[in-house]
Order: sequence, then C-alpha cells, then structure tokens
Amino acid sequence: MKVTLLLTASSLAAAGVLETRQRATPKFESLVASPNAPRVHATSKRTLTSYGPFILPASKGGAAAGGGGMGMGDSTLGGTSFMLNMEKGICSDKTNGPCTVFGGNVSVYFEDGRKATPADGIYIHHLLTTDRTKKATNFLSACDNPTRAGMSVSGFGGTGFVGVGEDSGEEPVLYTQRDGQSKAGYWVAENDKFMANVVLVNYNKEQKSVTVKYDLEWSPTPPPANTRGMLVSISQCPGKGSIKMSPSGPANSTSGKFTFLEDGVILAARGHLHDGGSQVAMYVNNKPACASKATYGGKESTTEVGGTKWATISSMSYCDGPIPIKKGDQMHLVVEYDLKAHPLRKSADGHDATGVMGMMSVTFASSAKDF
Ligand SMILES: *[C@@H]1O[C@H](CO)[C@@H](O)[C@H](O)[C@H]1NC(C)=O
Ligand SMILES: *[C@@H]1O[C@H](CO)[C@@H](O)[C@H](O)[C@H]1NC(C)=O
Repeated sequence: MKVTLLLTASSLAAAGVLETRQRATPKFESLVASPNAPRVHATSKRTLTSYGPFILPASKGGAAAGGGGMGMGDSTLGGTSFMLNMEKGICSDKTNGPCTVFGGNVSVYFEDGRKATPADGIYIHHLLTTDRTKKATNFLSACDNPTRAGMSVSGFGGTGFVGVGEDSGEEPVLYTQRDGQSKAGYWVAENDKFMANVVLVNYNKEQKSVTVKYDLEWSPTPPPANTRGMLVSISQCPGKGSIKMSPSGPANSTSGKFTFLEDGVILAARGHLHDGGSQVAMYVNNKPACASKATYGGKESTTEVGGTKWATISSMSYCDGPIPIKKGDQMHLVVEYDLKAHPLRKSADGHDATGVMGMMSVTFASSAKDF
C-alpha cells in the first residue's frame, strides 16, 4: 500500500505535478535572553525562543515587483502552511514551563538575524499557537447561544496562546493588564505541549528560509489568578458571519451576542483584522466598551505588489482593562472595513485576498483563583 502511494507520488512529481522540494520540519532552535527590558513588570524575565527553519517556496505568481503571472500555483494568496510541534522552548530549553506568561509577540526573521517584514516580501498570514495540554473552561458562550460554551478560534481542542494575524504588529498579546497593576497571567504548567499553525507568504521570486521567534515576558512563580484568552470571530455567528465591504467607504458588520458564563474581569482585549479593516469595536450589554483601531503602513509594513504601493496593517490598538463583568453580561462586536481607505491585500498575480476576518482577542480572569 505504502509502496504504491510512493510510486504514485514520484510519478506525479516526475510529471511536474507535485512540489518535489524537500521541506525541513521546523523545530526548536534556541532560547536566549531578550536584549529588551520587560514591558509590564520590571522584575519579569524576557526571552526569545526560535523555531525553524521554515522554508518558503519562491513565489510563482511572478509579480513581487511588477508583471502579471500565470495564476497557476500562485502561493501568495494562501501562503505556505506549517504545523509546528513545540515540545520545549516556552520559558525553558529543557521543556515548556513552569511559568506565568504576562505577554508576548511573535515575528519572523531571516537566517542572518534580520527581521523579515512585508517590506521584504514576507507576510504572516496567521500564526495561531495552542497549549494542547491546558484545558481551560471558556468564559464566553457560543455566538447567539447563551447556554452553550463557546470556542476560541485558536483553541484547536486546547487553549489558545500568543499568536498573530495579518495585523501582526509589534505589540504583545497580553495576559495581564498593560499598566502593570495586575499580577495575573497565563500559567504554563511544566511539560505543557504546544502546537502552532503557521501560515507565511513569500512574495519573493527566490525561496526563503526563515525562523519564527516568540518574545515572551514571564515569571517562574504561579500567578494570583490564571488568565484565559479567547479569540472570538464574527464568523462564529450563525447568519451574521459575513463581513460587509464596500469600495466606496466604511461598512460595518455587527456580530451576534456572546454571553459571559462567569463573573470576572477583562484585563485586555485587541482586535484582529485583515487588510481593508479599520476597527473592531466591543460592546458590553449594548454599551460601547472600547474600540481597537488599525494603523497602516510605516517602514516595515509598506511595500509594492505588482507595481502598486501597498501599506499593510502595522498594529492594532489595545482595549485596556479592567472591565468588570458579571455572569450573563453580553458582548458583541462591530467590525468596520473601509476598502476606499485600505484596499484588500493582493496576491502576486493580482487577485484580492479572500476570507477577511473580524475578531477580538479577549483576556479574562475570574475573580477566584482558577487553576
Ligand atoms: C516584539 O515587539 C517589540 C516591540 O513592542 C519589539 O521591539 C520586539 O523586537 C518584538 N519581538 C520580536 C521577536 O520581534
Ligand atoms: C461603525 O461602527 C463604529 C463603532 O461602533 C462607529 O464608530 C462607526 O461610525 C460606524 N461606521 C459606519 C459606517 O456606520
């Protein structure tokens, strides 16, 4: 059976149908102290963990710098997808944990240590990290279903952890308050297993080898409250999942209601959008709680695709807590896209990106110590 499959695969490869290049599986590379000071608590540790190599095939769309392509096999629309198994590297190079993570961000680097940005033709489609071991109860209900527990988009059967979308940005995902007033954080137990779904886009006509680096702020001691994050999406709402967009200006889409299933406090929140999006507003019990707004462009996030200047989202602003929550409170999102101000991302051969997103990542602590 196996032999037959191999033969079939190699004959297809010989016919040029299959990608024959051998791709290295990304693995733990190193854990080093960050040259930067911790951002939330002066006494925390801050480390850089590298995983790699991620081998990104050359763009076949033919148009990293002008010209049309054949469209066949254009890898710049969907990107190249990797599964990264993280057996170690979160706070330790022997295993993962134990530690309390206060926040973190992820970026992509070239092998020579330079950051790989949209200006270099490298684009993070998304990077979702999951703590496969931690089973946290979800504090929000399913959309428009107040009695059923909801799901985090980044959960994958575990608990979502530091990740990044097209709006990547430099600023960390926070598991505590940004102002340092809370010692709450995300508890990583010793030996927790993590996994990441990494989708990267290479607009260059050459293959690129890159490394993904997690920049984490943490402490070895358990937190007074173990925070949980959920990434919820308007696409989870039955009948309200599609995002409205208009070439002539801003258009809003309103999600259904997500009900809080317990008392607690929102410590931080931040929107996730794709190019074209301008803000994600959060409402609690129909009152505006905050809006997370997109910033476009800047040196690392401006480039050219097919001869046209393109500024991608460089950051999303924070919604800062504490926002006190009572069980039964309802949250909804208003997602604004403005294609006049910010066109959709284009593939190298000129296709508009599909599947735009409108999400909010919410960090929550119940009032009780919840381990
Ligand atoms: C994380 O973000 C900070 C800015 O907040 C930046 O200085 C740092 O280089 C980023 N970390 C990585 C690994 O890119
Ligand atoms: C979209 O919603 C936001 C937040 O509620 C609001 O500020 C904005 O004016 C709305 N835009 C449109 C076009 O309705």
